[in-house]
Amino acid sequence: ACPFRGTRMGGALGSEPQLDHWWPNRLKVELLHQDPIQANGYGTHDDYAERFKSLDVEALKADVRAFLHTPVEWWPADYDNYGPQMVRMSWHSAGTYRIADGRGGSAQGMQRFAPINSWWDNGNTDKSRRLLWPIKQKYGAAVSWADLMMLAGTIALEDMGLPLTGFAFGRIDAWEPDRATYWGPEGWNGKRPGEVPAGPLEGHPNQMVTRTIRWEGDVEEEHYDLENPLAASHQALIYVDPEGPNGNGVPMDSARDIRETFSRMAMNDEETVALIAGGHAFGKSHGMTAPDEIGPAPEGAPMKAMGLGWQNPNGTGFAQYTMTNGIEGAWSPHPTTWDNTYLENLFKFEWEQTKSPAGSVQWKPRDPNAPRTPDAHVEGQMNELMMMTSDIALKEDPAYRAVCEKFLADFDYFTEAFSKAWYKLIHRDMGPTSRYLGPDVAKEEFLWQDPIPPVEHPLVGDAEVTELKEKILVTGLTVGQLVSVAWASASTYRDSDKRGGANGGRLRLAPQKDWEPNDPQTLARTLDVLERVRSEFTAPVSMADMIVIAGCAGVEKAARDAGIEVVVPFVPGRTDATQEMTDEEQMDFLKPVSDGFRNFHDARVGFSVAPEHLYLDRAHLLSLTAPEWTALAGGLRVLDVNWDGSRHGLFTDRPGVLTNDYFRVLTSMDYEWSPQDSREMMFDINDRATGETKFTATRCDLVFGANAQLRQVAEIYGADDGHARLVHDFVAAWHKVMMLDRYDVPEERKKV
Ligand code: HEM
Repeated sequence: ACPFRGTRMGGALGSEPQLDHWWPNRLKVELLHQDPIQANGYGTHDDYAERFKSLDVEALKADVRAFLHTPVEWWPADYDNYGPQMVRMSWHSAGTYRIADGRGGSAQGMQRFAPINSWWDNGNTDKSRRLLWPIKQKYGAAVSWADLMMLAGTIALEDMGLPLTGFAFGRIDAWEPDRATYWGPEGWNGKRPGEVPAGPLEGHPNQMVTRTIRWEGDVEEEHYDLENPLAASHQALIYVDPEGPNGNGVPMDSARDIRETFSRMAMNDEETVALIAGGHAFGKSHGMTAPDEIGPAPEGAPMKAMGLGWQNPNGTGFAQYTMTNGIEGAWSPHPTTWDNTYLENLFKFEWEQTKSPAGSVQWKPRDPNAPRTPDAHVEGQMNELMMMTSDIALKEDPAYRAVCEKFLADFDYFTEAFSKAWYKLIHRDMGPTSRYLGPDVAKEEFLWQDPIPPVEHPLVGDAEVTELKEKILVTGLTVGQLVSVAWASASTYRDSDKRGGANGGRLRLAPQKDWEPNDPQTLARTLDVLERVRSEFTAPVSMADMIVIAGCAGVEKAARDAGIEVVVPFVPGRTDATQEMTDEEQMDFLKPVSDGFRNFHDARVGFSVAPEHLYLDRAHLLSLTAPEWTALAGGLRVLDVNWDGSRHGLFTDRPGVLTNDYFRVLTSMDYEWSPQDSREMMFDINDRATGETKFTATRCDLVFGANAQLRQVAEIYGADDGHARLVHDFVAAWHKVMMLDRYDVPEERKKV
């Protein structure tokens, strides 16, 4: 019989209901395996840096420059110049970055995918990207979308008169939406998930139009609570509502939102004003049609729209009819020229509130004789200047006002401040400068790049490393101390913005040396001993390398004591940063507030999720797979690296020995797992037969036995043939973590 004999067909890939609907709080282990290499259209051996070598950078830049002044019929350029539109697209790509977890930003070109491609704030950036397609098509594999999107805005700025600080290529495209980044609760048409009816919403299928406020309380500082790590005050916006919080039109409230959100992007007051005043020197806002007349965002648009959204039924739907945000008008009389007229007019005139044709709150000069700005499309028509509530905020907030006054008095200073802030904005999530590609990288290194000095001494060879390990092992430092110091150093890395890692040896410096999870007193003693071995050694070696060598020595000893000889790979070449090269405030964002690897959980922080979810988050930031995470978790635990010296999860009577005891206990039915209190954070592991408490553990331990996916891996290592495999996998994962920030080393040397 034909299997398709029913009258209705269903059950296609991904049909409802799915796991998340039934068990919304489950641990989403699959987030570790996102954007798999199989999804890469360039194949499983793709190497963007290699592809980039064939790029004719000057030809590409010339093509982008020419494109800016070559309007097309399906989306004509305002003022016959696509520059401002490109600047906004670039800014919205980079502007999703947040320093708390390093996620967001421009480095993977995520603006191409949901939900970002369909945020209300990204209205018509779909057109900006599509306009660039002929250039992307011409250069194909040689340039990533992520790079091209940032290049377009940057060349546009230069073309309109801004001297550039530089530009680096090197952003590697993702191939699917990022499901790991928490953007805050997202609702559709003001409805929360669960309130949304199954079918298309009447009138506006799948259109996300609301700008629901994300923070709770009062806009006054003491009540203002924007959930961490979020860096946008409203859902579906990059930063703040231009009309003021929830459209209230109050500039000082807007200033509060701006300061909160821009500081979470790692920008200080001066950089914030430079970016906003610099950006709004160009282009215009578009608000000719009521928002509820606009069609669905790209992700919910009909197939015939071919990936474009926000179809506008008014007039031609573009040029003088364009509707993007809802506010209408330009800030400057010369919207395609870099000058100081934005700030001059902001301060020269009194501004009064008015409404755009789309009904949005905006501001116009009170003086009827104020300069006017040419219409973007209608020849000969001159329009009133416009400011947004968020622009007026720069004038009303005293600290922002002081910066504006400085910029007004010294245009060259403003120019440099904007150029440098732009460079920071678009490179902030690219990691060390060794990842930067192309001929235009800025010569100057900046503090926000966490600079590391170049190698200026001969590197130690294998024989010297062996000798160093022997010397370290006779100092009396325990396996736990050796492994802890290397782990504390290397595990600061986060793949989201490629910051942290063992290179630079910043574990010796403030603030890392004082972080609670690093157990500062023990750390100081360990570092003293390593420093002594280093200073007495015949060949030069950095402390950053010494710390990693110490870890290798500890792991090798732990495996040897368990009956397995291994050599943990070591690649020299790390150098030591100085305190002056370290921005303590920005570095502090790498401090773990919860770290299951060391059983650290700062209960003083109000967490809205259980520790195992934060543990998964750390594994994700370290770019670990589920098996790597599991091997490291179980291996580190028996090596005795708990931050406070506690014995939670130490399921062995041989601490410091790399056994598979952790997994044997975890998978055994000889034990009962009993919470110590109703919070279910700590557990007693009792012998089922005698009732005797054998061990204690945290949720971060139990998760490897309780979660179905992780348990499958735990069973591999807990099996009778699992020990050797665990040691091998542990060493491989360990080496991977030690090498995560070594962009200076070819990939093959990072493998075991
Ligand atoms: C346009 C808001 C910061 C560059 C716009 C528009 C809004 C807006 C509502 C009009 C969109 C449209 O309808 O077409 C804001 C807010 C900011 C901010 C609330 C922060 C408080 C920035 C920054 C930059 C920038 C930091 C760049 C450095 C631009 C440009 C345009 C624009 C170039 C004109 C786009 C065009 O002509 O098509 N902004 N913006 N903005 N923004 Fe911003």
